Amino acid sequence: MCGIIGYTGHLDALHVLLNGLEQLEYRGYDSAGIALFSSGNDRFIMKKAGPVATLKDACADVDIISHCGIGHTRWATHGGVNDTNAHPHIAGKVTLIHNGIIENYHNLIERFGLRDSLVSETDTEVAARVLDYYYKGDPYEAIRRTTREITGSYAFCIMFEDIHDQIFCVRNVSPMVAAHMKDGSFVASDVTAIIPYTNRYFVIPEYQIVTLRQDGISVQDLNGNPVEPEMLEVSWNVEAAKKNGYPHYMLKEIHEQPDALRNTITPRLNDGLPDFSEDGIPDRILSSCDKIAIVACGTAMYAGMVGKALIEPIIKIPVSVNIASEFRYENPLVDEKTLVIVISQSGETIDTLAALRLSRKCGARVLSIVNVKGSTIARESNYVFYTHAGPEIAVASTKAYMVQLASLYLIGCRTAMVRGKFSESDARTFISRLMDSIPAVQSVLADKDRLKAAASVLAKAQDAFFVGRGLDYAFSLEGSLKLKEISYIHAEAYAAGELKHGTIALIEENTPVIAVATQDKIYGKTVSNIKEVKARGAFVILITKENAEVSEDISDMHFTVPVPYDQFTVFPVAVILQLLAYYTSDMKGLNVDKPRNLAKSVTVE
Ligand code: F6R
Repeated sequence: MCGIIGYTGHLDALHVLLNGLEQLEYRGYDSAGIALFSSGNDRFIMKKAGPVATLKDACADVDIISHCGIGHTRWATHGGVNDTNAHPHIAGKVTLIHNGIIENYHNLIERFGLRDSLVSETDTEVAARVLDYYYKGDPYEAIRRTTREITGSYAFCIMFEDIHDQIFCVRNVSPMVAAHMKDGSFVASDVTAIIPYTNRYFVIPEYQIVTLRQDGISVQDLNGNPVEPEMLEVSWNVEAAKKNGYPHYMLKEIHEQPDALRNTITPRLNDGLPDFSEDGIPDRILSSCDKIAIVACGTAMYAGMVGKALIEPIIKIPVSVNIASEFRYENPLVDEKTLVIVISQSGETIDTLAALRLSRKCGARVLSIVNVKGSTIARESNYVFYTHAGPEIAVASTKAYMVQLASLYLIGCRTAMVRGKFSESDARTFISRLMDSIPAVQSVLADKDRLKAAASVLAKAQDAFFVGRGLDYAFSLEGSLKLKEISYIHAEAYAAGELKHGTIALIEENTPVIAVATQDKIYGKTVSNIKEVKARGAFVILITKENAEVSEDISDMHFTVPVPYDQFTVFPVAVILQLLAYYTSDMKGLNVDKPRNLAKSVTVE
């Protein structure tokens, strides 16, 4: 949430910042702004409500030579979306950008008597004014004293008016990375903004002050002791973060799913069986727990729902799925015998991180399934299972969901083996079926144009319902989220048998119902539920296995998945549901990759 970029070096800073903000825009896109030191050491600020493109237009005629500056793209928390509330904020000698939330900003306004001096409605400006109050020429002292005053989460990037070529950074919780190469030093919210320049970077450690100079970066703790940061390397290149000919990142990422699945699964196979020794995940954490608690948000949580529906019946111990933002406030039943599986694409979602910290405090071992290397969740977990999806830029998650599922399937299989629930031969069969899901995903992609007709029906609807039973219900939850977040159509997912207990009252002539019926053992029951909505006028878009017996009168459109086994239909079904949402949004002319009110990485509570 909110994107930060800072640069000092030999390159044209305006160009570096605007390009960086375009890369980071998926983190928040309400407004954007930059601050630069000109070659005459004047401070220049431009900030605009709206997308980065509006800021770029506003900067088109800016004739300034600058080699040092900071930039920000905002997802509003405190104060409306307007030019004044956009970052950077200036207070005396301080220019500041911020990602996070200053929780005690009301107290700070009173304590520092700021009520009459504030020009914006933001918590960030309050932090800038406190920093300016403490700044008497020593940036480190001012930062130290300010951070002592502040409670909340923050990644700050600061310029001081009388230090023209340096940028100072400090963070608590909110992410920030830094890198130095021959052309200068960079700081950013994530690596997508610095990957055009270098693939070596470090995660700025919490509560340490980082100074960016043209010729290098130094890190010190709050007592002034030098710190050597741990360098990391990005395993993907700049091409991976481009659209590569697709009209949207989302469509590109949907098409990357077969590769993402292969990259996540195959390195963990040893002679056809799952093996996590390279990940450093010991079998004992899978065999010794007496329950599993999966914790995540949004799409990652829905991957967890599939994981529960798959794993619990196999390993026969309780598996719960928990909404991270609720988990920490409900005294969860987590102890030393619990394996907590945390799922997060970004590895920075603050609710998930808080749940992780609480779980560890309760004595649980935490295994996280994370896509972004070196992210906070990865670093704070006992064990990490990295998914290898590459960068996911579209705000709506697709390929990350797919590999989160694959990870849960692998973990489920290994757990069943080490707990004696799967023989070696069961595990081999399971894995070979998992691998067969990849061509099934490919075949849905090859036939995707057929889905456009269904999307054209959805595009005209105000409401849509997704129904299924068992695993199909778990898939439906994600299908419904995908549709609502990018097409703004009100969508609900229901366990099909539950409709008649209330929701069926909402079905009227032509209400779209996406019915997922791929589970043999309850197929007949699901069909009965589908007939119930059909009888009330629903427009039914049905998804079944290829070999299902389907009578013509139960659906208006019918799509099939080429997977014969109940447990593995999710992979191609997910692609159908993603594409339905994608085409619907596109047909409505919406901003598919950057839906309103959302941001990619949710780093505020
Ligand atoms: C929806 C979506 C979100 C994320 C959720 C968790 O398409 O992307 O629901 O899944 O915000 O994010 P991560 O996985 O980064 O923790």
